Amino acid sequence: MSASQELEKLATNYAMEAVRLDKQGAKGMAITMYQKAIENLLKLVQLYPEYSLNKVYIQRAMAYQERIRVLQNAGITPATPETETQAETEEAASTEGSRTTSTGKASYDELIVKEKPNVKWEEVVGLESAKKAIKEAIVYPVQRPDLFPLGWPRGILLFGPPGCGKTLLAAAVATEIDALFLSVDAASVMSKWLGEAEKNVAKLFQSARKAAFNGKPAIVFIDELDSLMGRHSSEVGGEVRVRNQFLKEMDGILDKGKKLHVYVIGATNKPWDLDWPFIRRFQKRILVPLPDHHARLQMFKLYTSNLSLAPDVDLHELARLSEGFSGSDIRDTCQSAHLKVIGEFFESGQAKNKLAKPRPLTMQDFRRILEERKPSVSLNMLASYNRWFEAFKAL
Ligand SMILES: Nc1ncnc2c1ncn2[C@@H]1O[C@H](COP(=O)(O)OP(=O)(O)OP(=O)(O)O)[C@@H](O)[C@H]1O
Ligand SMILES: [Mg+2]
Repeated sequence: MSASQELEKLATNYAMEAVRLDKQGAKGMAITMYQKAIENLLKLVQLYPEYSLNKVYIQRAMAYQERIRVLQNAGITPATPETETQAETEEAASTEGSRTTSTGKASYDELIVKEKPNVKWEEVVGLESAKKAIKEAIVYPVQRPDLFPLGWPRGILLFGPPGCGKTLLAAAVATEIDALFLSVDAASVMSKWLGEAEKNVAKLFQSARKAAFNGKPAIVFIDELDSLMGRHSSEVGGEVRVRNQFLKEMDGILDKGKKLHVYVIGATNKPWDLDWPFIRRFQKRILVPLPDHHARLQMFKLYTSNLSLAPDVDLHELARLSEGFSGSDIRDTCQSAHLKVIGEFFESGQAKNKLAKPRPLTMQDFRRILEERKPSVSLNMLASYNRWFEAFKAL
């Protein structure tokens, strides 16, 4: 697994563990786990300051931070009923809003990323069939709804191995069409909204419908969708209610909202954790696969475009050597090779001379990294995705 991915997974795991403890009322332990989740997210942001999804990670860290604050301050869970005012609903639908409510309670606004991540379509390498499917499902109907008398799909499920561009793709769609983009990761829905999750899911869709009603398309993006499923057997934290609310909202946009441009994009790398009622409501189910040779070549081009390369660096050869690597692995490979050269440069003392520059990266630098690194997705895992795709595909 690549460093960035490892950090992301660690953060998710800590967050899930925090939620579990939180539900059991083990406040102290939950706080510790939320903190670990935050630490890992911040590490990720620091390690890769240029990373296009950093905004999303920072927002997640803030959501956990807010939950810690609630746990520390109030000493009570935010499960107290709250009368929802029109003003609040208005606020939720607008593009800005206060971070916390006056009671210091975890607020709806904070959890939702409304700012667009600003990922360009071209930054998503390969994935041609996924892009095409998304264009047909969202971009075209938004441009010319009159050409779709039979309607069009509203739920799109992106699934596939980790690190291959699901989150990136969803972010790119938001940039592509002028839409309200409401992005939320399911883990923080379950944590931050603990006790209020059900209501806030309703609010989330309400914001989306309101925007659409006023003529602006809305995309609700739910990352790590599988976390919404919860574990059926132990219904401690109200997952079943949240899940049912979600299904109900999905039905709402599928029937009543026939003319409204409200879309739900869900992403998961564990599609087999979803049950049929969930799967059924995502009429388009798109596999986001590992990059093929050509895509890997394009990725090496993309991720070395700002680096100085020695003439012996053969990107075709690198694409060949990195079979089985995810996009995230490739980005990390380039970054590691670069950091190694920079490290040497500082260690040799040359950096003191302000005019000196590090040497260009050679083929050998890349080879070393590739030799040490195993692809983060196993063949077994790949076979599972394909099996699931065969069973449930809907393009
Ligand atoms: N198709 C791609 N084109 C360009 N970069 C990619 C692509 N796939 C992955 N990457 C790189 O890897 C990073 C991780 O990708 P992303 O977060 O979209 O993966 P994911 O499929 O959502 O993974 P997960 O299932 O773990 O959430 C991207 O931000 C990007 O730097
Ligand atoms: Mg993702």
